Amino acid sequence: MLLQIKNLKIAYEKAIAIKDISICVDEGEIVTIIGCNGAGKSTLLQAISGLLKPVAGQIIFDGKDICKMSPQQIVTMGIAHAPEGRRVFRDLSVYENLLLGAYTRKDKKIKEDIERIYTYFPRLKERWKQRAGSLSGGEQQMLTIARALLSKPRLLLLDEPSMGLAPFLTIEISRIINEINNKEKLSIILVEQNSQLALRISKRGYLVETGSIVLEGTSQELVANDYVKKAYLGI
Ligand SMILES: Nc1ncnc2c1ncn2[C@@H]1O[C@H](COP(=O)(O)OP(=O)(O)OP(=O)(O)O)[C@@H](O)[C@H]1O
Ligand SMILES: [Mg+2]
Repeated sequence: MLLQIKNLKIAYEKAIAIKDISICVDEGEIVTIIGCNGAGKSTLLQAISGLLKPVAGQIIFDGKDICKMSPQQIVTMGIAHAPEGRRVFRDLSVYENLLLGAYTRKDKKIKEDIERIYTYFPRLKERWKQRAGSLSGGEQQMLTIARALLSKPRLLLLDEPSMGLAPFLTIEISRIINEINNKEKLSIILVEQNSQLALRISKRGYLVETGSIVLEGTSQELVANDYVKKAYLGI
């Protein structure tokens, strides 16, 4: 087991965003978290990457409880977060953004890694000198994922990678996520409102509603579930 979250509870000043969540992720798996606006999906990812500290519960990564670690220590442990909303450093170039993704690394293979990661995202290679803020939305989304990969993660957290993308780019992004999962041998937690896409590329999934897990199973089981069909797949 690469990641195990036990009875996690997270509160903002006035509200409890995560009530009691337990999930696990195995080595090499793509696990999806689906749920609608405000369910607590991004809050969960922020807790895993150390940006939010839980009120209760444990987050065990590679056998160690990471709850008290800093975000930087957590990156060094092997968890990378591609946040929602295309948070690139707008005034820096594509290449500089990628270098920043490797800020915790001390090895000398960063340039080789950037070349390897360009093979997933050829558009980023073509635009390596371009100011990140002038990339299209889809390209910024790709840069967010590519930058996360530069920290050499064993677990990649993807928050709404398909948000705001045209249908053909959504298909392209899901193809790339699959390719990365196969070739880089890493685990992925995929948070999506596009449940159809998420369940197509993941092996297992959890459905979150108002801070609790209401359903879990293989992606096939979730797709076949009547409630999921009606409320989340519109079929
Ligand atoms: N910084 C914050 N301060 C206070 N409350 C917050 C904060 N961020 C999120 N919340 C609240 O926590 C709950 C969960 O929010 P979260 O962003 O995790 O949802 P989400 O599932 O990612 O939704 P979406 O699909 O819209 O991105 C919501 O009720 C939200 O209003
Ligand atoms: Mg969110």
